[in-house]
Amino acid sequence: MNYWRQQANNLSQRLIEIRRHLHRYPELGYKEFETARYLAQILRQEGIEVREHVGGTGLVATIRGASSGRTIALRADMDALPIQEKTGMPYASIVSGVSHACGHDAHSAILACTAMLLQRYRRKLAGTVKCIFQPAEECPPLGGAKPMIDAGVLADPPVDAIYALHTAPNLPVGTIGIAYGPMMAASDRAKIKILGEGGHGSAPQQSVDAVLVAAHTVVALQSIVSRNIDPHSAAVLTVGQLQAGYRYNVIADMAVLDCTIRTTDVHSRQLIQDKIEQIVDGVTRAMGARYELRYTLGYPPAINDTVAVDQVIKAAEVVLGEDSVRIQEKTSLSGEDFAYFLEQVPGAFFWMGSRLEGDRKQYPAHHPAFDLNEAMLPLGVAMFCQIVEQELFREPLAGGE
Ligand code: NI
Repeated sequence: MNYWRQQANNLSQRLIEIRRHLHRYPELGYKEFETARYLAQILRQEGIEVREHVGGTGLVATIRGASSGRTIALRADMDALPIQEKTGMPYASIVSGVSHACGHDAHSAILACTAMLLQRYRRKLAGTVKCIFQPAEECPPLGGAKPMIDAGVLADPPVDAIYALHTAPNLPVGTIGIAYGPMMAASDRAKIKILGEGGHGSAPQQSVDAVLVAAHTVVALQSIVSRNIDPHSAAVLTVGQLQAGYRYNVIADMAVLDCTIRTTDVHSRQLIQDKIEQIVDGVTRAMGARYELRYTLGYPPAINDTVAVDQVIKAAEVVLGEDSVRIQEKTSLSGEDFAYFLEQVPGAFFWMGSRLEGDRKQYPAHHPAFDLNEAMLPLGVAMFCQIVEQELFREPLAGGE
């Protein structure tokens, strides 16, 4: 068995203990006070250099090698979700209405134990490893990555490459999922207010019907993805909400459209934003109405770097075996604020198989009954350590320190 996998297996009990502690006491984004304190304490006990309160509740553990070299960052998110847990497990959340329904408890436990292992091997390290525990991944549009970047987490020493993993309830334990290029989508929002002129339902000639303008606008908006976006590039525009009117015989003076926009490249992202404004402006003007448009940029698309993806695939083949890699042909259209890190430095985000086995039904992430297979925990540690070995170790480990 791979050396890192053996070492990580020895930490299995510790991993489960940390993960279950975090699971029992979840905290929402920007409020990970106890989570950060708990992790900082664990890391300091191992003699690891820790910085707290980086960009809010963010935490950075730094492992400095015996000799100088490049700097690799590993990232975990710490925040839970405003969801009442319904797993019925003994380690279920004791905080009413809050739970780790996306596996961020596992990410934090994996990164803490990775830091422990690497600290023991720091004499073999040529360079530095920064373990970044970030707040508020689930809190768009600001998120928790951006405040940490603004606080300088990628500087001093400058980070050369960054990696993150995420539990994957649809993949079996012992496999990973990854994509070259776009891995996760940008997630933006457009709120459009159409201002007409109200009036009596029997006298349309005296009014500007906001319902009719809104209907034309919805139809015209749907031409953007079908007629302006390259068919090889994934994009979605959904008008999720349309509100207008007071009564069946009264012409509405106002309609509100609320839309989510998902794109996988910066060109499509900009194009859709521009087109929405042009269409809303053109349709309302042609029909004698006015509009207000509020466009909110969410997380950017998460674009994996080719060299970093190769590193992850190589690590998976070493740690998990030849058949462990599932190349994702389709970009996930959900968002992930690791994208902000990937805008600054090359890196890769990958899915780590976490599917439950046996009698327990697997629910998707963000479901009240979501849970993960804890057998994935040591495999995550081994993956991170193997990536660091490939990036920073002067010579491969031949077993032992
Ligand atoms: Ni998540």
